[in-house]
Amino acid sequence: MKFYPLEKLHCLQHGYRKTFSVAGRNLLLLQDEDQTYLIENRCPHQGAPLEKGLVKNGTIVCPYHRLAFSLYDGKHINNSSYSCQKSLSCYKPRYQDNLIGVLLDESP
Ligand code: FES
Repeated sequence: MKFYPLEKLHCLQHGYRKTFSVAGRNLLLLQDEDQTYLIENRCPHQGAPLEKGLVKNGTIVCPYHRLAFSLYDGKHINNSSYSCQKSLSCYKPRYQDNLIGVLLDESP
């Protein structure tokens, strides 16, 4: 596993969103209130990017078909007539010095 730095800690504030291509993955780092989340920027339903999704109370709603997913465990929250058996990939943010990043294998 390798630490990939993503952002300086002082840049994180409510409403922060930024995508990163790291080790073959497309990641979305976001901050809502005092919570920081790191997820794959790809909806598990049909693959839409999530950077414009609505984030609220630990969930993200995909802008395409409005399915909601937990930002903690990635599970689909039954909020629409669509269903999705797959989960959103969530990553644990890691901290090193004044940086936030992620631990990943070097290839997906
Ligand atoms: S692609 Fe995200 S809900 Fe369908």
